[in-house]
Amino acid sequence: MANGARILLIIGGGIAAYKGLELIREFKKRGHDVRGVLTTAGAQFITPLSVASLTGDVCYTDLFSLTDEAEMGHIELSRDADLIVVAPATADLMAKMANGIANDLASTVLLATDKRVLAAPAMNVRMWLHPATQRNLAQLKNDGVTFVGPDSGEMACGEYGPGRMAEPAAIADAAEARLKAGGTVIPLPPGTDSRIDKARPAAKAQIAAKAADVPPRIAHAAKNGPLAGKSFLITSGPTHEPIDPVRYISNRSSGKQGHAIARAAAEAGAKVTLISGPVNIPDPPHVETVHVESAREMLAAVEKALPADIAVFAAAVADWRVATSAKDKIKKGPGGPPALALAENPDILATIAKSRKRPRLVIGFAAETEKVIEHARAKLKKKGSDLIVANDVSPATGTFGGDANTVHLVSADGVESWPALSKDEVAQRLVKKIADAFKPR
Ligand code: C5P
Repeated sequence: MANGARILLIIGGGIAAYKGLELIREFKKRGHDVRGVLTTAGAQFITPLSVASLTGDVCYTDLFSLTDEAEMGHIELSRDADLIVVAPATADLMAKMANGIANDLASTVLLATDKRVLAAPAMNVRMWLHPATQRNLAQLKNDGVTFVGPDSGEMACGEYGPGRMAEPAAIADAAEARLKAGGTVIPLPPGTDSRIDKARPAAKAQIAAKAADVPPRIAHAAKNGPLAGKSFLITSGPTHEPIDPVRYISNRSSGKQGHAIARAAAEAGAKVTLISGPVNIPDPPHVETVHVESAREMLAAVEKALPADIAVFAAAVADWRVATSAKDKIKKGPGGPPALALAENPDILATIAKSRKRPRLVIGFAAETEKVIEHARAKLKKKGSDLIVANDVSPATGTFGGDANTVHLVSADGVESWPALSKDEVAQRLVKKIADAFKPR
C-alpha cells in the first residue's frame, strides 16, 4: 500500500504551512496521490490555488461547498484516503483532535475518519512544552495517532527548542511506515455498518470506481459533475509539418492551456478526447489522448472522434505545410538552399464548425500579437465558432510556454476580459462557463 497510496493532507495555520507544499511534491515524487485540505488559518500562509496546483485536485477549504451533491462530502473525504497526514499540526488542531471538537472542515474530517492519522506538529517552543499541549499529545497517542517531529532548532519566532516541523522527506518516510502498518484506526462495535454504499451517490461512485480503477472523484463527477454525460473534444499543442524526415515547420505552443482544459473538463465529468500535437507534457489523467503530428492528421483524428457535444480548438495548428515533403533528408549542395513551396493546411475549426457534425458548442482560440480583440471578432465570424478565447502571445507576455494567460472571451454577446490567471484557472473558469451554457434554463 505504501506505493501509490491516497493521502489526505491537512495543512494547518502556521509558518510551516509552506513546507506542506513541499510535502505534496515529496508525496507526488514518491508516486502517491494527494488531496489537500487547507484550514482557514492555513490559508493565511499559503493559497488554496498553490495546493490545488500541486495536488492536481481541488483544494478543500471551509469555503468549499461539501453539502452540494456534486461535490465530495466530508465523510467520503475522510474515508477516501489510505492515510491522513496533518502537517503542520498546530497546537489548535491538536487540541481539537484530542477533544473531539469538530467545528471546521479539517477537524470534522479528522473526527469522521476511520483511517490512520499521522501528525507533524509545528508551533512555538513554549506552546509545545505547555502542559496542555503535552496532555493533548499523550491523549492523541493513546487514541492511535502517530507523530513525526517536532525537530529542535531555531524557530521563525526567534526562540530555540523543540517545535520546528519535521522536514518533508522525514514526514513522507513516517507516512510510508504508517501505511505499511495498514488497517483502520477505530474498530467499530459489532452490529455497526461502516459501509457507505447505502449513503450518497458519491460513495456509490467511489465503490464503483475502485472496480474500474478510476479515482472516486472522477467517477463521481462522471455521474454528477456539471459536464456529466457530455462528450468533449479538444485539440491542443502545435503541429509539426515535415520538410523532410528530420526537419519540420512548427510554432512555440506548449499545449499547456489545451491540456489544462482537457483535465478540467474530465474533472467536471465530461468524457474527454484530446487530440494532441507533439508536446513535452504528460497526457492528462482520465482523458483519451490521441497523438498526432501534422494538421492533416489532426483533422482526421478530430473527424474520427466526432460526434461530440462540445469542441474546443486550442491547438496552434500550422497554417502552412511544405507542399511536398522530401522522402529523404535534404542535403546541402552547390545549388544553394532549397526553395520550399508551401501549401495551406485545412482549417480544422472552420471545417468542423461548418460541417453537418458540428458539436452544439464550438470554441476557438486566437493567439494574437496585436489588435487582439479586433482580430478575434473577425475570427468568430470567419470560423463560425460560438466563442473565441483570444490571448495576447506577443513575446513580452510569456504566454507561449509559460504558466499564465490573460484572455478575452469574444462572442456574439460581446467581450468578457479576464485578469491574468494561471492556465489551470483559465481552464477551470472556461469549463464552468461551458457547463453553465449547458444548464437547463
Ligand atoms: O487562424 P488562427 O490560427 O489564428 O485561428 C485560431 C483558431 O483556429 C484556433 O482555435 C485553432 O485551433 C484553430 N485552427 C484550426 N486549424 C487551422 C488553424 C487554426 O483548427 N488550420
